[in-house]
Amino acid sequence: MQPNPERFLADLHALRAFGAQGKGVVRPAFSEADIASRRWLAAQAEAAGLTAQVDAAGNVFGLAEGKGLLLGSHSDTQPEGGWLDGALGVIAALEVARASREAGGPPISMVSFQDEEGRFGALTGSEVWSGHLPLHEADQLADAGGTTFAAARAALPGEGGPGPGAFTRYLELHIEQGPVLDTAEEQVGVVTAIVGARQFTATLTGQQNHAGTTPMALRQDAVRGFVDFAGRLDKAFAPLVTPHTVWTIGALDVHPNAASIVPGRVRFSVQWRDASAERLADMEEAARECLAVVAAETGIRAEVGEAWALAPTAMDPACVAACADGATAAAAGKWRRMPSGALHDATNVARVLPTGMLFVPSIGGVSHNFEEETREADLVAGLMALGAAAAQLS
Ligand code: GLV
Ligand code: MN
Ligand code: MN
Repeated sequence: MQPNPERFLADLHALRAFGAQGKGVVRPAFSEADIASRRWLAAQAEAAGLTAQVDAAGNVFGLAEGKGLLLGSHSDTQPEGGWLDGALGVIAALEVARASREAGGPPISMVSFQDEEGRFGALTGSEVWSGHLPLHEADQLADAGGTTFAAARAALPGEGGPGPGAFTRYLELHIEQGPVLDTAEEQVGVVTAIVGARQFTATLTGQQNHAGTTPMALRQDAVRGFVDFAGRLDKAFAPLVTPHTVWTIGALDVHPNAASIVPGRVRFSVQWRDASAERLADMEEAARECLAVVAAETGIRAEVGEAWALAPTAMDPACVAACADGATAAAAGKWRRMPSGALHDATNVARVLPTGMLFVPSIGGVSHNFEEETREADLVAGLMALGAAAAQLS
């Protein structure tokens, strides 16, 4: 089997056109651009001699005949996304599946999972596919504007699709999205484990009032409550974390968000990630305690809403070994074994199939940003490493 770098790069740029904005891409799950790109992807799979299927969650498959490897990633993006996050693994999967078919090689199928970037939940499509989240529960998830997964997926009707039992193993190629490989001038990373993560959405409700007439002592200002919470959170986490632990308040919604109104309500996300399940649990307890203290000391009401948790996940040893051999074949002396600090569909798939992952460098470690970029030679090295690992595991 010989993956074709030119064809792979051409397809990668063709996918980039769906939702392109400057260097980056805006293609959140079930947006018009996402739906158009999923239809395009299904057509590419058919043209490659695979059977295209879309399941009820919007996951797009290109199926080879017979039980074999599944390769893939996701093709939805963040609200401001780079062109490679997810897309790389999907198009590399298409190319390896196509090359194997052309060479009369083993059956290799591809997938683009839906909503990896969490417009609705977190890794929603692969969570449903792996049986961890029932579709009727996913349907209740809503995006920041209140649109439900059920309403959104009606625009890309699909049903059936293969279950995990149709495949032997899963491999995912992805950009690193961090600085390690780029700094070391290496071309490939072989992922040993993916960190765990937890997130909740909290709402602080105070008293909306006039910003000129309400004395400071009488205010119940939800933004001040939020600032108090954010400061307490850093202090509470300090004794619990390691230098590798990360936490983020990334979404913030102030109501009514007007200069002359004491804010009545703030809704925000709190997310934290670490390789230890125990530390993740301790941090959750600390975060909830901070909210309780803010509520008790200010009289502002604090509520925790939607929450999710993903456990730290080790990759399958045989898949890691094959990925290491693939990395040696494609980038001898320029690769390393490493953990993943980003989440991936591989976390969910690893519950149901032996799973492995490969990384290529991200220039400057930048991702979830229009500026995200990887050198062409590194994209091709990733493709070749994936092809070699897939051939070995087939
Ligand atoms: C996935 O994009 C993540 O947030 O790690
Ligand atoms: Mn991704
Ligand atoms: Mn991402």
